Amino acid sequence: MDLKSLIRDIPDFPKPGILFRDITTLLRDPDGLRYTIDLFTQKCIDAELQADYVIGMESRGFIFGSLLAYKLESGFIPVRKKGKLPAAVHSIEYELEYGTDCLEVHQDALHPGSRVLIVDDLIATGGTASATAKLVQQIGCELVGFGFIIELRDLQGRKHLPDVPIISLIEY
Ligand code: PRP
Ligand code: HPA
Repeated sequence: MDLKSLIRDIPDFPKPGILFRDITTLLRDPDGLRYTIDLFTQKCIDAELQADYVIGMESRGFIFGSLLAYKLESGFIPVRKKGKLPAAVHSIEYELEYGTDCLEVHQDALHPGSRVLIVDDLIATGGTASATAKLVQQIGCELVGFGFIIELRDLQGRKHLPDVPIISLIEY
């Protein structure tokens, strides 16, 4: 199946000069969604990326991360932007183009030695995925790998990730 044909390109969103890859058109297509998740699952199994937990980043990482966790029979743990999680959190600050942002995970969600797979819809600069990796590694988790639906190759995000297997289904 041609997955790229299900991704909608939106010029100048959210800022002039950015070509936004919109996954909502893939999500609404029943065959496309099933194919995507089945392929994502198979690639993870082939790369031996099964883990105790799939970690998904707010907000589009929640969609693909939880579907993948279901298929891999793992648990799902959300990493959220600052101030959204109700119980005690571990936090990590990371650099954006302008300023900083902060990601959080519940303190009781992960433990040293937990095997985790980090999943998001898209890797661009790699800032989000690399901050999430640092967060789980600081806790002492074993990071088994990363999975993305889309990789924006020109931005070389994978250069900023630790040396573990990285899967992506669609490259631009
Ligand atoms: C997007 C995307 C990734 C991140 C990738 O999320 O879903 O999480 O940016 O960019 P990076 O590799 O340069 O860090 P965004 O922060 O726009 O949040 P959203 O999913 O809530 O829209
Ligand atoms: N599409 C969707 N999300 C993104 C993009 C994009 O092109 N770049 C950074 N986050």
